[in-house]
Amino acid sequence: MRQNNLSAYHCDMPYPEIRVLEKNPYYASLLMADYAGFVSEMSATNQYYYHSVVLEDVDQEIANMLRNISFVEMRHFHILAKVILLLGGDPIFYADTNYWNGDYVYYGNNILSQLEADLQAEFDAIENYQKNIELIDDPFVKNILRRIILDEEVHVRLFEKAIEKVKLMQNPPETLTDIIKETFPQN
Ligand SMILES: [Fe+2]
Ligand SMILES: [Fe+2]
Repeated sequence: MRQNNLSAYHCDMPYPEIRVLEKNPYYASLLMADYAGFVSEMSATNQYYYHSVVLEDVDQEIANMLRNISFVEMRHFHILAKVILLLGGDPIFYADTNYWNGDYVYYGNNILSQLEADLQAEFDAIENYQKNIELIDDPFVKNILRRIILDEEVHVRLFEKAIEKVKLMQNPPETLTDIIKETFPQN
């Protein structure tokens, strides 16, 4: 596979050093949900990767974007695995009494519903990270989670743009009046 430049798919701030204040298995257990729970880096990596493969012939540009975002999620996955280890946990693919399962992925069968599910996954991920930032009293872990959220916010914007593109392609404006309405919806 051609080497991809991922810089357009994550925030350009560097990631903080992967370290923790001290071992804390409870914090590790909280992070297991972000790592391999229903809404998790594991689910996002696999969901976006699946969408990138099945959308290759539908929209090459969007498929490429999805594959690159999937690689960024895999980086988050790796960071969480390391943090869980440092906290004294074991980064197996398990959270909330269940092993990670392929039915956590929204597969879908059309580009719009797939992208909308991907956008929702980002909102859900951000919400879960924010909850854990509140619960985890470790400045190093908090910083790592805050940094991951910055990438998820880039993904929100990318998915929103992709959805806009698909909607315009599926329902192209026919007249100049339509185009003006798209550009200035308040008029
Ligand atoms: Fe992520
Ligand atoms: Fe993301």
